[in-house]
Amino acid sequence: MSSQIHLAFATTAVGITSVIQVPTPSPGPGEVMIKVAYSAVIPLDTYISDYGRLVNGDYPVVLGFNLSGVVGAVGSGVDGLQTGDKVCAFATAGSKGKGLQEYAIVQSSTCAKLPDDYSLKAAATIPDNFITAFYTLFDCLELTPPTFPVSVPPPHADTPILVYGAGATSGQYAVQLLALAGYKRVIATASPRHHSYLKSLGAAHVVDYNADDMPQKILLAAGRSLQFVLDCISAEGTLKSISSVVSPDGVVAMLLPVTEGSRHVAGKDVQMWMELPVDRNPFPDSVKLVGVRTLLYQQNEYLRDNLMPKLLPRLLEEAIIQPNRVLLFDQGSLQDRCQEALDVVRNGQVNGEKVIVKVASM
Ligand SMILES: NC(=O)c1ccc[n+]([C@@H]2O[C@H](COP(=O)([O-])OP(=O)(O)OC[C@H]3O[C@@H](n4cnc5c(N)ncnc54)[C@H](OP(=O)(O)O)[C@@H]3O)[C@@H](O)[C@H]2O)c1
Repeated sequence: MSSQIHLAFATTAVGITSVIQVPTPSPGPGEVMIKVAYSAVIPLDTYISDYGRLVNGDYPVVLGFNLSGVVGAVGSGVDGLQTGDKVCAFATAGSKGKGLQEYAIVQSSTCAKLPDDYSLKAAATIPDNFITAFYTLFDCLELTPPTFPVSVPPPHADTPILVYGAGATSGQYAVQLLALAGYKRVIATASPRHHSYLKSLGAAHVVDYNADDMPQKILLAAGRSLQFVLDCISAEGTLKSISSVVSPDGVVAMLLPVTEGSRHVAGKDVQMWMELPVDRNPFPDSVKLVGVRTLLYQQNEYLRDNLMPKLLPRLLEEAIIQPNRVLLFDQGSLQDRCQEALDVVRNGQVNGEKVIVKVASM
């Protein structure tokens, strides 16, 4: 056990979070130690801290699935990264890799090297939902992924594809990745404040999900019912809306958990399901439903070996993927910053931006 310690923001019991001291381990084989500059707070952090999800009684649990910073040390067998590199990473393997702490140990396969001049603040917005969008579209929905350069249009280039809830940060990456891969008929739903931005990212049509005639507008834009749908919200209400526009032989990807009601975050007393209960399922049996769990994306070996280590660095180097806008928490103590960020996420006060906490100055 290391004799070094550092500060981490953790949940220590259901509903309790605080800054604690934790040991600073050294990176093992295939691992990278990152001196963390920024981390993100996402809905899953609130489910872990408020309801003890994914915890299994094993407290304390450090929070923050996304991180950016500078490589402090690399373990044996790590290629392509060295001390001093600027990186962003996704924490898939327990507390030691989480971002809301001064030092994190992550698997090198979840790390992307950043261009030297890339903003660490912006980089902390990317990993979870870039991975979510890529994994959902090109693994779960089995669409043909991007090639470089896009020389041959993908088989479904002219098939309408619905990204429902594209105002969400996951949806923003989905729209960009579909455009990048050559899909020309992306239909997005979002609040009007996001419409011009989503069009600039590659959506052919954007429909306000609050409009009474939303289903008709989607069907008019598509010209037929939808074969492929990504629901970036995956609440009971969004699935119900999608059921009125999806083709009987269509496929719908749901970002789990499915939440009761219509919001993208589940508050107290709101149910969440990792499988859509039969009595809440609005779809006919012929519609294929795919539940997405991004934490498992490395089971796809191609994605494990390429998505963060090779593809994202290239997309950032060539400036062909845009990070999300940032809602920054950088004032007061680490405890203050993390607590305020958690409150904003748990209260659903996020409008298309990523909630980012400054962990340390670089
Ligand atoms: N299982 C997984 O692997 C996985 C991965 C990522 C995310 N998720 C889940 O997916 C959900 C979204 O995550 P996120 O990080 O993308 O969220 P986010 O960026 O925080 O999403 C916020 C946006 O959601 C939109 N929204 C809220 N309710 C909506 C509704 N009823 N219809 C359409 N849009 C709605 C709002 O868009 P407007 O501003 O347009 O109103 C809001 O700006 C969360 O529940 C999260 O836990 C799961």
